[in-house]
Amino acid sequence: MTNTSAPPPPPAPPAPSQAPSRTSDPVLRGPVRGPFLPPGDMEQAVTAYHLATSPARRWDVESAVNWSAADADRLTDGQRSAVRFVTLIEDHLPGYFAVYTRRFPLTADVDLADFAHHRELYHFTVRWAVEEDSHARALFRYQTESGIVDADTLRRELAVEGRKPFELPHDDAVALFAYALVQEKATQIYYQQLRAVVGDPVLAELLGRLSRDEARHFTFMADVVERYLRTHGDAVVEPIRDVIARFRMPLADTMRGYWRWALRIADTARYDHTDAYDHLIRIVNRAVDARTDRVEELTRFIAECRSGAAAPA
Ligand SMILES: [Fe+2]
Ligand SMILES: [Fe+2]
Repeated sequence: MTNTSAPPPPPAPPAPSQAPSRTSDPVLRGPVRGPFLPPGDMEQAVTAYHLATSPARRWDVESAVNWSAADADRLTDGQRSAVRFVTLIEDHLPGYFAVYTRRFPLTADVDLADFAHHRELYHFTVRWAVEEDSHARALFRYQTESGIVDADTLRRELAVEGRKPFELPHDDAVALFAYALVQEKATQIYYQQLRAVVGDPVLAELLGRLSRDEARHFTFMADVVERYLRTHGDAVVEPIRDVIARFRMPLADTMRGYWRWALRIADTARYDHTDAYDHLIRIVNRAVDARTDRVEELTRFIAECRSGAAAPA
């Protein structure tokens, strides 16, 4: 998507005194239902993720980029607006992390087999959360060092959105993984697209690091979803279909001005979460040797939901 006209000004920051809209707050849900992967399978997926996060690929906010060279004067208004938008999304990490702790609980009322599975998953979740939190910190730092906004103003902006609850409208475990698969891939693609156009090399360097992390997060979710399909077959097709049928990027239903803002950032760099759907189709095809009618219908449906495809029946 390109825009030859002057980029619109970024939306006004949310008023600090404004209370979150109670009408759009999602209902927080309890533990997800199975089936789950055998704990040994989850452990293999988690180990592959940790192996992919070798020390050479790790980075830290303090030393990864040359902060003193960050310069927002090299960005267009649209690029600044995009940075502000993705900072809000990344900064909601406490809400995303709470989904995993609430829906895959590690408490006394969880039966032993489920607990063993959730404990393996937790080895992924905590590492993933550290990485996502570093994304939030790095984008915060970029905004303040480059001169987009001062720290106190930004903290207030982030708090307005950050205190709103986050939930996914699904109750099957596989649906949470399929959702994350699409969201991580869509985020990776957007960071790559934005990186290609931004005028500040410091921001380009940062976006490169973020997109590589999101690629690893996607790979983990793809591995898990593929294992679900191999292990449980048709039983997990409907929950995956439901994810696509109801897909919204994080905060789409709660962030003030989300849709208007999302359209604006798509003018700066291509932003279309359905770009990730081809990757999901590929994983389904890879996982399923003997295609059943339900799997056929699933891949057809996902393809139809791709932007530009004919509207699904
Ligand atoms: Fe991230
Ligand atoms: Fe991620």
